[in-house]
Amino acid sequence: MGIKYIPEPFRIKMVETIKILTREEREEKIAEAKYNLFNLRGEDVYIDLLTDSGTNAMSQEQWAGVMKGDEAYAGASSYFKLVEAAQDVFGYKYIQPVHQGRAAEKVLFGLLMGVGKYSISNMHFDTTRAHVELAGARAIDCVVPEAGDPAKRVPFKGNMDVEKLESLIKEYGADNIGLVIMTITNNSAGGQPVSVQNVRETSEVCKKYGIKFCIDAARYAENAFFIKEREVGYENTSIKDIIKEVFSYADMFTMSAKKDTIVNMGGLLGIKDDEELYQACKGRTISYEGFVTYGGLSGRDLECLAIGLYEGLDENYLRYRIGQLEYLAARLDEAGIAYQAPVGGHGVFVDAKSMFPHIPYNEFPGQALAIELYKEAGIRSCDIGSYMLGNDPDTGEQLKAKFEFTRLAVPRRVYTQAHIDVMADALIAIKERASEVKGYKITWEPPILRHFQASLAPIEE
Ligand code: F0G
Repeated sequence: MGIKYIPEPFRIKMVETIKILTREEREEKIAEAKYNLFNLRGEDVYIDLLTDSGTNAMSQEQWAGVMKGDEAYAGASSYFKLVEAAQDVFGYKYIQPVHQGRAAEKVLFGLLMGVGKYSISNMHFDTTRAHVELAGARAIDCVVPEAGDPAKRVPFKGNMDVEKLESLIKEYGADNIGLVIMTITNNSAGGQPVSVQNVRETSEVCKKYGIKFCIDAARYAENAFFIKEREVGYENTSIKDIIKEVFSYADMFTMSAKKDTIVNMGGLLGIKDDEELYQACKGRTISYEGFVTYGGLSGRDLECLAIGLYEGLDENYLRYRIGQLEYLAARLDEAGIAYQAPVGGHGVFVDAKSMFPHIPYNEFPGQALAIELYKEAGIRSCDIGSYMLGNDPDTGEQLKAKFEFTRLAVPRRVYTQAHIDVMADALIAIKERASEVKGYKITWEPPILRHFQASLAPIEE
């Protein structure tokens, strides 16, 4: 066994019973769901790895915070507690709560982007790209080339390609770049980290051309832990100091707080010192989200978020959290199962193309593996490949994705080593009969974001 499982740095005080259906029952459920895992009822899932977003287990301190939440419409004490905590952690003057990450994108991007503008990012998350486009602009991804090779193990596979960034700025014209966005960790590349050096170099390029620099901060703490483990010179720096340094290079951040702050709902918008921009964001928050001191959240949500901001920095917790993924990855290594390596912070992205070389991209290997995982062990995961990518908006033709991944995203503080072993065992069992697994065809699809709603059917010879 390559790696030891790091025991949970907590004990369990409240439990939620989960149902285990038989294989026959699962086969019926997934057929009824038209082979779309989003159509399954949560209660029919044994281990739910659809996302690590909003699926976290809160601590006793956070649950106590639920009771203490101040529900005043304006000026709630929970709001001030949250703002002070976020100012302390990120070092920014202005903090605006919103209901989730995409709400921060909606509030901010409309102010900085419009027709003819571009956003350049190491990789845009789907909703980030959508809000760039809704604001009239275009999104360009600029990740380092190593990210495209699942087998290539490099420490910071989520980095921006800084040279390419500069050439893109020259090509499109600095005045037309609305924003440069650094996504930490880089979710779309497999939860891969970004180094301090890369954030600093990106910020230098932005400064040189007078372009605003934003961090998409959903997994800021996991990213800081990778820096501590992997970047020379940071071995003895605290997680909090690493985060401060990373954020010191940017002008603003948008954050889905449903990830590293270990809550079920919430988001933040941070602005370092630009008062005019903050004023404009406040106005848009009131229109879209609610008054500035609650931003679409309940007082109890603000309270839990303030507590979670600190809990997410705990090194014992982060070591266990990342260790869980590394343990799972080591079991896959042993079995010869390929994934985006080294494993990222919030999930394992299994290389379904390599598991099912006989299934072409337009028969959706990533989705086929997700369906097999449900049938095999009641595990719900999702396709990050051609099925998710969809059709060319102009020609209607199926696009071919760069990767065919199946993402097993692990919620925080929810599953134990035994559950992780169920995941590994299920993948190993599927690999043993991989050549028998068939592809899928789409029998109905909506025009946009089809993977949430489409119906599929297995391809029978
Ligand atoms: N940015 C990143 C990097 C994300 O991973 C997400 C959400 C968002 C923004 C949007 O935040 O959901 O709070 O509105 N990612 C989830 C996922 C949904 O499953 O990866 P949100």
